[in-house]
Amino acid sequence: MDVPEMAPYARHIFICSGPFCDPEGKGSRLYAQLAHKLGALGEYDNPQRVKRGTSPCLGVCHSGPIVVVYPDGIWYCQVNEALLDRIIEEHLGNGQPVEEAVYHRLEDRTYSSDVR
Ligand code: FES
Repeated sequence: MDVPEMAPYARHIFICSGPFCDPEGKGSRLYAQLAHKLGALGEYDNPQRVKRGTSPCLGVCHSGPIVVVYPDGIWYCQVNEALLDRIIEEHLGNGQPVEEAVYHRLEDRTYSSDVR
């Protein structure tokens, strides 16, 4: 099997570009700005690198733009440019989620052989 190489990275941010949570397409515009806004956090050889992605739907379909950061499992809604800037600086850059804007977080599901 021909396996691709993966450069180290710390987090992955997804922005929904779908029309149901965000009929005005603001999520797509935020995503278009993301590479520039990430700066050094987006550089390929940075071990703290943040990968970015967009999705046609993140399964929420309300109160967008929806943004989720993994592996933290932290979800933000109604993200505008000012909030995205804070997410980049405080959460992606310093590891501190923007608590007042978090509307959901994934449960800690540390793997156990007892969990199915
Ligand atoms: S269209 Fe954005 S979450 Fe479904």
